[in-house]
Amino acid sequence: MKGVVFNLLEEAVVRTFGNETWDDLLDDANVTGAYTSLGNYSDDEIVALVGAAAAKLGKSNGEVLQWFGEEAMPILKERYPTLFENHQSARNFILSINSIIHPEVRKLYSGANCPFFHFKEGDGNTITMGYESSRQMCDLAHGFVKGAANIFCEEVTIEHQSCMNHGADRCLMEIKWAH
Ligand code: HEM
Repeated sequence: MKGVVFNLLEEAVVRTFGNETWDDLLDDANVTGAYTSLGNYSDDEIVALVGAAAAKLGKSNGEVLQWFGEEAMPILKERYPTLFENHQSARNFILSINSIIHPEVRKLYSGANCPFFHFKEGDGNTITMGYESSRQMCDLAHGFVKGAANIFCEEVTIEHQSCMNHGADRCLMEIKWAH
């Protein structure tokens, strides 16, 4: 996993809980915390940090990943405003992940291993998002989508209809807009 993801997790934790909590998580996860944005680090380290946060906050790993994704989106908007500027809605933004967002990320962070999503557009209010990755981080995707909706002041509910964490070949998430 690229160091930038660790940097984002650090920023989200520090903004919400403070520096001390981040230091505690590094100790609990038994990792150094020296992450440069372009570096590559073992996925095990992010899993260990998420596990340490879950234990500390009394949440599940999935809940922590969702929280992280949601908190990371405004930080990403501060860092990469152009990726957001051309969109009037979260729907549009989300549908640009494969064509614009992650290709841009691969240019910025050489060797980034970003997931590809399958989108099926339902009526005006739903999109079904298919996700397949050996990292099995559908909860991070869930949090990113929630965070994107917040940015555009929209309300979504996300239902995991099938999930790799529960033995399925791939994840299917139905994103439903309240309006
Ligand atoms: C709704 C929008 C987005 C979704 C659903 C999404 C989803 C994900 C997921 C689930 C991963 C984890 C890797 C995996 O599962 O294999 C990931 C990786 C990543 N994403 Fe996105 N993402 C979104 C938007 C963005 C944006 C706006 C940026 C930055 C500008 C970004 C940058 C990255 C980076 C740097 C990685 C790490 C790749 C690596 O370490 O190899 N993503 N994304």
